Amino acid sequence: MTMRSMTIQLQVKLQLHTILLSFLLLPTTSVAILTKQIQPGSTLYASNTTQTWSSPNNTFSLTFIPLNPPTTPPSYLASIVFSGGIPVWSAGTTPLDSNASFQFHPTGNLLLLNGTGHTIWDSGTANLGISSASLDDYGNLVLANGTLPVWSSFNHPTNTLLPSQNFTTQQVLRNGLYSFSLHSYGNITLKWDNDSIVYWNQGLNKNLTSPTLGLQSNGTLSVYDTTIVPRGVVMAYSNDHGEGSDILRFLRLDEDGNLRMYSSVRGSGNETVEWVAIGDQCRVFGYCGNMGICRYNGTNPICGCPSQNFELVDPKDSRKGCKRKMEIENCPLNVTMLDMEHTLLLTYPPQSIFAIDGSQIFFVGISACRLNCLVNPTCDASTILSDGTGMCYYKTPEFITGYQSAALRSTSYVKVCPPVLPNPSPGLVSGKSGGWRMQSWVVAIVVIGVALGLIVLEGKFEKGNVTAIVDRRLVKEEVDMEQVVRAIQVSFWCIQEQPLQRPRMEKVVQMLEGITKIDSPPSPKGRE
Ligand SMILES: *[C@@H]1O[C@H](CO)[C@@H](O)[C@H](O)[C@H]1NC(C)=O
Ligand SMILES: *[C@@H]1O[C@H](CO)[C@@H](O)[C@H](O)[C@H]1NC(C)=O
Ligand SMILES: *[C@@H]1O[C@H](CO)[C@@H](O)[C@H](O)[C@H]1NC(C)=O
Ligand SMILES: *[C@@H]1O[C@H](CO)[C@@H](O)[C@H](O)[C@H]1NC(C)=O
Ligand SMILES: *[C@@H]1O[C@H](CO)[C@@H](O)[C@H](O)[C@H]1NC(C)=O
Ligand SMILES: *[C@@H]1O[C@H](CO)[C@@H](O)[C@H](O)[C@H]1NC(C)=O
Ligand SMILES: *[C@@H]1O[C@H](CO)[C@@H](O)[C@H](O)[C@H]1NC(C)=O
Ligand SMILES: *[C@@H]1O[C@H](CO)[C@@H](O)[C@H](O)[C@H]1NC(C)=O
Ligand SMILES: *[C@@H]1O[C@H](CO)[C@@H](O)[C@H](O)[C@H]1NC(C)=O
Ligand SMILES: *[C@@H]1O[C@H](CO)[C@@H](O)[C@H](O)[C@H]1NC(C)=O
Ligand SMILES: *[C@@H]1O[C@H](CO)[C@@H](O)[C@H](O)[C@H]1NC(C)=O
Ligand SMILES: *[C@@H]1O[C@H](CO)[C@@H](O)[C@H](O)[C@H]1NC(C)=O
Repeated sequence: MTMRSMTIQLQVKLQLHTILLSFLLLPTTSVAILTKQIQPGSTLYASNTTQTWSSPNNTFSLTFIPLNPPTTPPSYLASIVFSGGIPVWSAGTTPLDSNASFQFHPTGNLLLLNGTGHTIWDSGTANLGISSASLDDYGNLVLANGTLPVWSSFNHPTNTLLPSQNFTTQQVLRNGLYSFSLHSYGNITLKWDNDSIVYWNQGLNKNLTSPTLGLQSNGTLSVYDTTIVPRGVVMAYSNDHGEGSDILRFLRLDEDGNLRMYSSVRGSGNETVEWVAIGDQCRVFGYCGNMGICRYNGTNPICGCPSQNFELVDPKDSRKGCKRKMEIENCPLNVTMLDMEHTLLLTYPPQSIFAIDGSQIFFVGISACRLNCLVNPTCDASTILSDGTGMCYYKTPEFITGYQSAALRSTSYVKVCPPVLPNPSPGLVSGKSGGWRMQSWVVAIVVIGVALGLIVLEGKFEKGNVTAIVDRRLVKEEVDMEQVVRAIQVSFWCIQEQPLQRPRMEKVVQMLEGITKIDSPPSPKGRE
């Protein structure tokens, strides 16, 4: 706090003539300090991206940055960027042309003007006695009346949380239709479309007084509250275990609806994923748009349509979803059902708890799940869960998003006009190895790995002598060393002392398949 208040020590008088006067009177050595203080009336232009408002030691700066990937003609966002060029905050989300400008208006308002001079975004701080603006070395842009902060970018986050930024229940990270928030009971959630669907929730579920979420500079993300003894509950931590210096770690809600922690070495412009909320991207609600089906091509999530009875809404962007080539109202013959094996139509709260029409959820057999939807005019599709409950969900035509993988046991049905035109079959690709047949030796390694306790094994693994671990009887079969390494890494995850760190079975399968990236596991005994 002392560092931060130092940056706003220099107060600027509001009247322009006073500023001009002080410019004339100040000795030249003070100019360096003045450049760190943003003068009322100062303007940044998108046409000149070398123009910046910097923090005292240049760790952060406010500037126009071109959109990435680039567009023609180029478009820009007014952003606070970390040294190297990584944006951590933006004024508005609309990309603007090169005639756009960003101004600290003498009334104390921050204004973003588009190419024709219309206000696109403003801080709403006109005439609140704002006398200074400054960007501090933690990345916080502060507007203050004297030394009293009135507005700050930390209190108005966009999609990123920085260390030393306090995230409260009043704040939201947003990206497109996705949002991230903290709740009064200490849960953190990811939601889709104005909070209608909660597709990720991790939490304490405790009665708290005024929880805040904070990120340590070493990448530990914790919920703090006066009722939590001693100092907070860890929700996630950076996979690089806080190693290295001059590294910024930050949390960002990405455009694909996933929440990730990144690290970036000062000045590099590179960012490395250190933690991800949803390891399985296909489980992010709406990732493939309405009627879109998410599949893995081995390594990457790919969006497609349920069958050739559908086409992409936008052939250039498969994430925009699919539409029927013929609407079911217009079917010349009776409507029929497209049967999709190994396919789950994503169902998250409140969908899974409250039925839209009071009759959405049924415990029925698999054939009834199909037939009841077929004869029900309000049902567009149905899915039977693979979680052991045998629950059948009827889907109304509002928004349906699916996930197809050989590892899923769900079956789904979608109404189409006959004839059913299945997708050409490249087969159900599952993992780099192609087919869905996890070889017995992979399972054996995991089982042996877990059973041994693995301190010895770990020593060998760290030295890279993987073949020594593989049992000779197994080596007789064809052994893919990449899969062996994967299997051993997975087994380390399975024997974590902290139960929260152990992956769920479904994730284990996907790590083995190579669908989910395997973070390098911490030592099973926990980190020292
Ligand atoms: C761009 O801004 C920089 C820094 O303020 C300045 O030195 C340079 O002259 C400007 N260039 C143009 C073309 O205005
Ligand atoms: C910016 O304004 C100038 C002068 O009005 C105009 O010639 C130019 O086309 C504008 N640039 C864009 C990208 O609209
Ligand atoms: C600026 O915003 C106004 C109002 O939204 C809009 O009518 C105008 O077309 C925009 N100009 C540019 C160059 O985008
Ligand atoms: C600015 O701060 C001064 C002294 O701290 C206070 O008297 C004044 O009311 C404030 N101005 C506004 C507009 O809040
Ligand atoms: C810049 O200031 C911040 C905050 O005091 C500090 O953490 C960081 O190490 C400084 N960086 C450099 C390069 O001086
Ligand atoms: C965040 O909260 C801590 C503890 O309440 C406080 O010391 C710190 O000043 C706050 N940071 C900001 C940027 O408000
Ligand atoms: C908070 O999270 C816990 C554990 O994930 C969950 O059981 C609980 O239902 C959540 N509470 C609310 C109110 O969403
Ligand atoms: C929170 O407090 C309320 C009322 O005091 C109580 O009904 C509720 O069960 C509590 N919830 C939890 C999760 O402890
Ligand atoms: C990160 O820092 C916090 C507070 O300084 C500390 O409690 C925690 O153990 C550290 N975590 C790691 C992984 O170093
Ligand atoms: C950024 O990352 C790429 C690929 O990991 C690497 O080749 C490049 O050297 C890195 N750049 C810097 C400046 O570290
Ligand atoms: C999967 O898709 C990604 C992105 O479209 C592509 O780069 C990659 O080569 C594909 N992999 C395979 C095995 O087809
Ligand atoms: C359409 O379905 C209804 C009831 O399922 C059946 O009675 C009727 O014969 C069917 N019509 C055609 C043309 O298949």
